[in-house]
Amino acid sequence: MGKHRKANAFVEFERVQKSYDGKTLVVKDLNLSIGRGEFLTMLGPSGSGKTTCLMMLAGFETATHGEILLDGMPINNIPPYKRGIGMVFQNYALFPHMTIAENLAFPLEVRKMGKSEREEKVKRALDMVQMGQFGGRRPAQLSGGQQQRIALARALVFEPELVLMDEPLGALDKQLREHMQFEITNLAHQLGITTVYVTHDQTEALTMSDRVAVFNDGRIQQLAPPASLYEEPENSFVAQFIGENNTLEGVVKELSGEKALVELDDGELIDCKPVNVTSVGQRTRVSIRPERVEANPDRLHPDAHTLKAEVLEFIYMGDVFRTRLRVAGRDDFIMKSRNAPDQVRLKPGEHIKIGWMPSDCRALDAL
Ligand SMILES: Nc1ncnc2c1ncn2[C@@H]1O[C@H](COP(=O)(O)OP(=O)(O)O)[C@@H](O)[C@H]1O
Ligand SMILES: [Mg+2]
Repeated sequence: MGKHRKANAFVEFERVQKSYDGKTLVVKDLNLSIGRGEFLTMLGPSGSGKTTCLMMLAGFETATHGEILLDGMPINNIPPYKRGIGMVFQNYALFPHMTIAENLAFPLEVRKMGKSEREEKVKRALDMVQMGQFGGRRPAQLSGGQQQRIALARALVFEPELVLMDEPLGALDKQLREHMQFEITNLAHQLGITTVYVTHDQTEALTMSDRVAVFNDGRIQQLAPPASLYEEPENSFVAQFIGENNTLEGVVKELSGEKALVELDDGELIDCKPVNVTSVGQRTRVSIRPERVEANPDRLHPDAHTLKAEVLEFIYMGDVFRTRLRVAGRDDFIMKSRNAPDQVRLKPGEHIKIGWMPSDCRALDAL
């Protein structure tokens, strides 16, 4: 079985398509291979097909086309209780009439585990999420954050090899969410669990994941570790969706292996790294991260490309300064500078020179 399986792949989507109505595909030709023990996040806007993928993997939906393999076995051939999949969703769905300990024991009873072993596992799972004191309470007697920890413990209590989480932290406040992000990744790595995590929050995806699959319109736009996703977006959608991004539009004038000369719409010429452009004459969107833009001549690299800019707005944010500039005819160009002792605080109306390294300036598709 699975001759073309990747080594160590634990979950595989092979040319998976899904339609609910027999007409429109909400998942289009999805190929994805998830390693054993990997923490993989599906990130994308609402409606991009993330939950559908998770539901197919869990076995609550069937693929219209293609195959999903779990440890090399087509998932359809594995009865749900043998899939060993733990699940956590946004609405915790704990049983309200049961105590916390009974809630946790439930997946073990379903698996016909004996009482003493059950009690031992429940205790361990509660300790794991630091909720050891709460076994006798009912869900309504816990805060949202505590309930979510219990939901996590319940997903882990039967020691699944695979855990699926769909926006599990969406309902929590910022501080608790950040704490839980840390807790979930720690637990997953510590227990060697393969995790498929769904979120529309890019910060969450970047901070938690080994790799992130960026979804849009039923397709994976890019699959990469967080740093490459942020620093080397492969198309305009990913560049826009992940982090803040400056976009300048123009036409490719010259193209060689590692350099693209782009004429911006105001006539200015700049050197870029060709990423998603293939021919001279093609329209392109050039993408530059705000923190890669420099206005301080002392900090500017000799090889940096420079452009004229006008300061429109200076926003003091404490740790960083956010300066809005008019550049190449656009007035939404953002520069982010660290609040260092020698950093200049620019004033609206000033005419300055800004610069960046051509390697930080990526020529992408025009959308
Ligand atoms: N049970 C369903 N029946 C019909 N259409 C659905 C169903 N679930 C999701 N969809 C549609 O499939 C598309 C993808 O939805 P979903 O997988 O929930 O996206 P996401 O989780 O990324 O927000 C959306 O257009 C949604 O309206
Ligand atoms: Mg969803």
